[in-house]
Amino acid sequence: MKNSTTLIPFLKWAGGKRWFVQRHADLLPQSFNRYIEPFLGGGSVFFSLQPDNAILGDTNPDLIATYRGIKEKWQSVVRSLQYHNQQHSDAHYYKIRDAKPRHDFQRASRMIYLNRTCFNGIYRVNQRGEFNVPRGTKNSVLLDTDNFEQMSRLLKGADIRVADFAALISEAKAGDFIFADPPYTVRHNFNGFVKYNEKLFSWSDQERLAEALYWAKRRGVNIVATNANHPSVRDLYEDCGFKLITTSRYSSISALPEHRKQFDELIISFNASDNQP
Ligand SMILES: C[S@@+](CC[C@H](N)C(=O)[O-])C[C@H]1O[C@@H](n2cnc3c(N)ncnc32)[C@H](O)[C@@H]1O
Repeated sequence: MKNSTTLIPFLKWAGGKRWFVQRHADLLPQSFNRYIEPFLGGGSVFFSLQPDNAILGDTNPDLIATYRGIKEKWQSVVRSLQYHNQQHSDAHYYKIRDAKPRHDFQRASRMIYLNRTCFNGIYRVNQRGEFNVPRGTKNSVLLDTDNFEQMSRLLKGADIRVADFAALISEAKAGDFIFADPPYTVRHNFNGFVKYNEKLFSWSDQERLAEALYWAKRRGVNIVATNANHPSVRDLYEDCGFKLITTSRYSSISALPEHRKQFDELIISFNASDNQP
């Protein structure tokens, strides 16, 4: 399954799980049938495990177009990034920010260019679903860690979809592995919603997710899910056969030093082979 080449995620994504891969790789199963990641984002765990056969999903259409662009036309993506690199300036940044390219390879290079040069590297859209982050201080459009050729090869084994998480989870069968990393919403938190898309991830989405994972577990699917370590979230998974682990992480996504804090997170897991009669 795993190729010897290390692949570093090409996007910096809010809630990205690079820290998880570094600290908790031991919680990820070594072998499974299909890999299913319904909240793909920057895909840290996917790029770490490098599965041969995967189903990847996210509700963000620009993000999914980016993965498809790399899968189908990685060389065009690189050429287009080289062009953005040459042209990079205030005028070019805002022109590309306002552009709506049609082809996946152009949508991919736009997303990567903006992600690498925007303020604080955070993907955020306005009410109309438009990316509205101003230019930041970083000017590196191409990185030494980029390996789009290898990523394209890996993505050839993946079915990549714009989809709600429930559609992907319902397809998981015994022996598959789901890694689920949703936006962290907690109950009774009416003003602190995490916003990645124009649509919020609500508390009822959290309840739908817990139910979908419960039924996947009953079908013998291996599961690792992450979430906020909040009593309301723990309540959803406690006493129904999941293993709950609390871990701490240091968040550095905010530009404000006072927001760079230590957070407790929850890891929810189920290993089907531990539970065979
Ligand atoms: C915490 S991020 C995932 C980060 C990823 N694990 C990484 O390492 O970069 C959550 C993702 O869920 C997506 N999302 C939000 N609501 C969704 C839904 N209902 N179904 C599927 N994906 C959703 C967001 O677009 C976002 O990319």
